[in-house]
Amino acid sequence: MKISLAENLRTYLDEKEIKELFVSLKKENKHAVLLNPNKMDDNTFISLFPNVNPHPIVKHAFLYDKNEYDLGKSIYHLLGCYYLQEPSAMVPAYLLNCNENDTVLDLCAAPGGKSIQSSFNMKNKGLIISNDLSKQRAFAIVENAERLGLGNLVITNNDFSLIHEFYANAFTKIILDAPCSGSGMFRKSQEVKDDWTYEKVLKCAEIQKTLILCAYNMLKPGGTMCYSTCSFSSDEDEDIVEYLLNNTDAELVKTDENPLFFVNKKKPYGIHLFPSVFPGEGHYICLIKKPGELSSKTVERKSYKFGDFLFEGADFNYKKLNVLRLGVKVGEVSKDVIKYDYHYAHYLNHFENEIELDKELTFKYLNGDTLNLPCKKGFVLLKYQGISLDIGKSDGSRIKNRIPSRIRNLNKVTF
Ligand SMILES: C[S@@+](CC[C@H](N)C(=O)[O-])C[C@H]1O[C@@H](n2cnc3c(N)ncnc32)[C@H](O)[C@@H]1O
Repeated sequence: MKISLAENLRTYLDEKEIKELFVSLKKENKHAVLLNPNKMDDNTFISLFPNVNPHPIVKHAFLYDKNEYDLGKSIYHLLGCYYLQEPSAMVPAYLLNCNENDTVLDLCAAPGGKSIQSSFNMKNKGLIISNDLSKQRAFAIVENAERLGLGNLVITNNDFSLIHEFYANAFTKIILDAPCSGSGMFRKSQEVKDDWTYEKVLKCAEIQKTLILCAYNMLKPGGTMCYSTCSFSSDEDEDIVEYLLNNTDAELVKTDENPLFFVNKKKPYGIHLFPSVFPGEGHYICLIKKPGELSSKTVERKSYKFGDFLFEGADFNYKKLNVLRLGVKVGEVSKDVIKYDYHYAHYLNHFENEIELDKELTFKYLNGDTLNLPCKKGFVLLKYQGISLDIGKSDGSRIKNRIPSRIRNLNKVTF
């Protein structure tokens, strides 16, 4: 017999709650933006985009109307001043609250929202292994890390179920944003809505059980894990947490009460964000602790050389990992001279030789043009409104264009 989503939700919601949820699913989806504190503060953002509203929970985040502001096309997006994310997806990393001494694993990370938010919180320090099983999707994290100038992400493409024993008790925090049936995506994707079946829920639940046990094994004693999905089905939410509690010594961490959070009274482990209550698409979030005393120490940074390329990132044992990007890509070393990379330019706020470009010159540079601009010889950090754009090379009177061809998308950028 076919089970509908409404029937599935009757396990923990009453008829009124289900009706309200279904009414909300017919409304428009919500959009939010998370500011990159290394590049833009709240007041500057509000002066540029005045008609935004603060996110109800997350600091330095705002809800906005996509019809009014196309933030994805703005020059400030290209400069890495913010990350666009739906509002409920920002709550898990906010509650986990990673800090600069943390060694974090984000197990199912692509396109990187929760890693990015944690990186901002960690002030670009510590370590975040930002992993995804899909190589193609993991490369989307690399693109985001370059644009946002992140230096503490190590982006990997691994199946941790095969290597988790090697990293047992290795991480102070773990983010497990599990692949799920996606009922919290219905307003964003008709395809996900059409594809939903209860069989898919059960199939995802089996994968989630494997992932949560393997993630818990990698958590340090005293460490905290955040389990989340964008599914409304308790089979993928409370039941997975219950499975962990029944099979390990895991303990629940209580989340502060908030009228925007919904708690399943039969299984009050975590919180649901429903679009009928919270201005977002929907998420389930549960914080879990491994008993013990946490022993965290400062994460040191060091240089790594792969072939001719120089990287700088956290000192860690990456032996078993298929690393796509280790920290920040500093550049290519050739005959003892380093050709700085676009990633490094966005990572830096200052450089020994830097120059401010006006709107016209920024426009030209993004177009791939050489700039006829007198400047000290050598590599020069180019900035627009004080925000790093790229590292060009000056011969004293002209600045050679070094912008990667994929960034030359002027038609798409608005000033
Ligand atoms: C819900 S999405 C993650 C969204 C992401 N956390 C964010 O905030 O941007 C789930 C991801 O899990 C990945 N995935 C599926 N199975 C996996 C596995 N066994 N190990 C790691 N990643 C997996 C998928 O490729 C997908 O990118």
